Amino acid sequence: MSKPFPDDPFLCGNYGPWPMEGEIHDLIVEGEIPRALDGTLCRNGPNPQFAPRGRYHWFDGDGMIHAFTIRDGKAHYRNRWVRTQRFQMEREAGEALFGGLADMKATDPRAEGIFPNAANTNIIVHAGKLLALWEAGPPHELDPQTLATIGPYDFGGKLLGPMTAHPKIDPETGELLFFGYSPLPPYLRYYVASADGKLVRSEEIDVPVPTMMHDFITTREHVIFMVFPATFRFENFASGAPIRWEPELGTKIGVMPRNSGNAAVRWFATDPCYVFHPMNAYTENGRVIADVCRFDRLPLFDGAEAEGLEKGPSALLTRWTLYLAVVTVKEERLDDSPAEFPRLDERYTGLRYRYGYAGGRIGAPTDGGIFNAIFHYDHQTGKRRVHDLGPTNFTSEPVFVPRSPQSPEGEGFLLTVVYRQEENRSDLLILDAENVEGKPLATVKLPHRVPYGFHGNWGQGL
Ligand SMILES: [Fe+2]
Repeated sequence: MSKPFPDDPFLCGNYGPWPMEGEIHDLIVEGEIPRALDGTLCRNGPNPQFAPRGRYHWFDGDGMIHAFTIRDGKAHYRNRWVRTQRFQMEREAGEALFGGLADMKATDPRAEGIFPNAANTNIIVHAGKLLALWEAGPPHELDPQTLATIGPYDFGGKLLGPMTAHPKIDPETGELLFFGYSPLPPYLRYYVASADGKLVRSEEIDVPVPTMMHDFITTREHVIFMVFPATFRFENFASGAPIRWEPELGTKIGVMPRNSGNAAVRWFATDPCYVFHPMNAYTENGRVIADVCRFDRLPLFDGAEAEGLEKGPSALLTRWTLYLAVVTVKEERLDDSPAEFPRLDERYTGLRYRYGYAGGRIGAPTDGGIFNAIFHYDHQTGKRRVHDLGPTNFTSEPVFVPRSPQSPEGEGFLLTVVYRQEENRSDLLILDAENVEGKPLATVKLPHRVPYGFHGNWGQGL
């Protein structure tokens, strides 16, 4: 018999794991699902199979995919764990074998020397492949119809290490731009896969110090690597907690022209901070304009994880203007309300854009969830619009789907999974992205809850 899960903020409430896999055909819907929607929203998040060994960290849990297929005005649901090596070893053992990020020393000798790829952070579709991503290892390829795990994917042997969970698809070329970071040299490698999925570029990038580099920024002209003082030094592995906050190092932002390479990277210095996620960026008139969700310090790894995210530091939407000729950064706050999990109409990734979306928090910190609102930003007018979910409903990352490939920017739908705390279950909301404060166009009702997860994407026609 499995051990019960311990009393931990990231294992309770809707952070707690959902233990079942299954399918629901033709879910109950309030309102009307737009006929224009034809595809699948896949979401990924941590969902530990077994009670942890030692201290648990939110980033540790086994990846579970939740997929909503929307077609002909109907919605269907399926969820599956990603069958990683770790998942299969632990299932066979009947218990957790791997220590987590905050307690790696708790690893059982049976799992010694095996990297615990959790495949729990993001899921993308590129060149016809559905890939579950985790930043410290290779992706896992999944069957798009069944979500069955096909296995680790290394671009035909060309991926030389881990792959970020936040690759960017260039909307003009279809290329997949990404990187991998490591605590051992080379600390950073930049990759490009062509629109048909072939890995065509792989280049070492010199960085001042190995850090936890969760995401990066791309524009039509530049690739930007963010080196925050969240170090990931190999010598700290022995302590069991390899990620450290070293604010005296400051923040370094490396800007590389896409038509050039490592030798052309210029480093911009700014105050210590941490950004998990940029919203978008573009290059214009000798400047890079980058909008990011900025924390004053690294959350979740500072010994205060047990307080939970809702009581820890908050990210605020911030604009960096990088003046390329003089190598200086200007920083402006765009909003005073906490916002994270930023997205955009991804047909504008790396291009001048007008609209952005995020999970947001209105009012005092809420008990249990993080984001009780969906924010819609208009960067042209500087106005923020809000879909207020009320005090006991909590959103995940909102994903934008255009009404049609030809629709103007921002015309389409926002899809987001919302946890109903009072009912202890979740709904998929479909909002009109141009009228976010309005009633959802459709509320797709699940009988169970979807644990708070990280990222997801829409697969058109999937
Ligand atoms: Fe992320």
